[in-house]
Amino acid sequence: QRKMVKLCGIGAGYVGGPTMAVIALKCPSIEVAVVDISQSRISAWNSDKLPIYEPGLENVVKQCRGKNLIFSTDVERHVQEADIIFVSVNTPTKARGLGAGKAADLTYWESAARMIADVCTSDKIVVEKSTVPVRTAEAIEQILAHKSKGIKYQILSNPEFLSEGTAVQDLLEPDRVLIGGNEGPEGQEAIKKLKDIYAHWVSEDKIITTNIWSAELSKLADNAFLAQRISSINAMSALCEATGAQVSQVSLALSKNPKIGPRFLNASVGFGGSCFQKDILNLVYICECNGLVEVANYWKQVIKVNDYQKSRFVQRVVSSMFNTVSGKKIAVLGFAFKKDTSDTRKTPAIDVCKGLLGDDACLSIYDPRVSADQIKKDLSMNNVQWDHPIHLQPLSSSSSNGLEHVDIAEDAYEATKDAHGICILTEWDEFKGIDFQRVFDDMQKPAFVFDGRNILDVGKLREIGFIVYSIGSPVEQWLNNSVNSAVPF
Ligand code: NAD
Ligand code: UDX
Repeated sequence: QRKMVKLCGIGAGYVGGPTMAVIALKCPSIEVAVVDISQSRISAWNSDKLPIYEPGLENVVKQCRGKNLIFSTDVERHVQEADIIFVSVNTPTKARGLGAGKAADLTYWESAARMIADVCTSDKIVVEKSTVPVRTAEAIEQILAHKSKGIKYQILSNPEFLSEGTAVQDLLEPDRVLIGGNEGPEGQEAIKKLKDIYAHWVSEDKIITTNIWSAELSKLADNAFLAQRISSINAMSALCEATGAQVSQVSLALSKNPKIGPRFLNASVGFGGSCFQKDILNLVYICECNGLVEVANYWKQVIKVNDYQKSRFVQRVVSSMFNTVSGKKIAVLGFAFKKDTSDTRKTPAIDVCKGLLGDDACLSIYDPRVSADQIKKDLSMNNVQWDHPIHLQPLSSSSSNGLEHVDIAEDAYEATKDAHGICILTEWDEFKGIDFQRVFDDMQKPAFVFDGRNILDVGKLREIGFIVYSIGSPVEQWLNNSVNSAVPF
């Protein structure tokens, strides 16, 4: 019998890469292979420039790569050799066919499962790391059983709770590890094996074990609850603007209630990221399939409020700049869906920029981490038509790709030079250190700031002379500031 336990992680993305790297770091006696069908991703993992930006990740990878951590495209070999296979492939929203716009697209998961069934010659534990619809394990089991050749598979659900931008920290010190498995003795034995791996660095009281369906559903519920908090505070921000309340003060008051707690109460231009919308739509679809229309409609509303928040922001920019941004330069500071990541999946910046371009603005976009190519790619793609109302205009699909009014700047000063307005769309720390007097001097007047993340010192900006809109602050404050909005709303 082999001495070393061998793990294989299928999918070298935002979850698979960091998760398997941290396991390798914390378990030097375990061999970890991360495999992917994408040659370019694997090459990047093997290079000095990792395919994703995460604080601390480079350090972790450098410590283990070539020792007990390898990145490879030889998917079949490593799957065959592994004792435990972690599947972290993407599970996007289905774009076509039955359930399009809502259901999870399990194409990648199914192809991984079929490949496992084809190549394995010994018993395996297969761990669902991807976020999947509740009861996916059943489907996977059927695929594996079909070609089992006498091999025994145990399926575990071990959803990942890391957040981008803090992935390494979240993995090193998780608030919990959730493992769901079959309730029989073989299922329990498999749970124990996975638990033993985490026990290298996670204390036992943080490792929760459940049945497999609870674990699968908990991940969808977790993201739905988090997104719901953001939509709740964003809904309040609209009411604050109308009534003279300050959303930051409301958040502070709520945060002191131990039954509510302090986190995820920052009003914003809307939540983004690859998970929240996708997972709620998936939840909505599952509810509808189970005839739970009221439950489905309840969760749908979280996405509707998020769409409303993004379109409200665009309307605020246009209406306060005398109802037209046509031909005006607007600086967009921040494009990533949150700070400390280069990820732009479902970033609110895409919808806001498209909304402003739809009103013929000229955009100069600066993000400290997102490449010019990525921004242009994101802005030239059409929105998939979900079943919830789209408030924002997609780019015209005429002969041009609509990007002739988009400029990518090297820094905040270049982006804001000669601009009429500034939109802060990501809460990057470096934006707090901008010399706003210098920025103001170089801008057209009146100079507007629309802070979609509430990170700037509004008082200071007003002293300099800016007209400032920050989410959830009473509109009167800046209306009194001598300029009238052409169309109040
Ligand atoms: P990703 O797109 O960054 O990575 C997925 C990788 O899987 C890609 O590199 C792709 O090439 C690879 N892949 C697809 N099919 C494959 C196959 N058959 N064989 C080998 N490789 C294959 O996705 P991600 O952001 O890492 O998310 C992965 C899963 O984890 C999703 O289900 C997501 O919902 C979930 N999740 C994501 C996060 C997050 O913050 N991104 C957090 C928790 C959970
Ligand atoms: C999320 C979940 O937090 C994580 O548990 C899960 O594993 C993956 O999905 P992530 O999408 O990486 O993580 O980032 P998160 O910090 O949750 O932020 C998501 C979005 O909500 C971002 O656009 C962020 O800016 C926004 N947000 C977050 C707010 O607008 N206000 C807040 O108070 C918190």
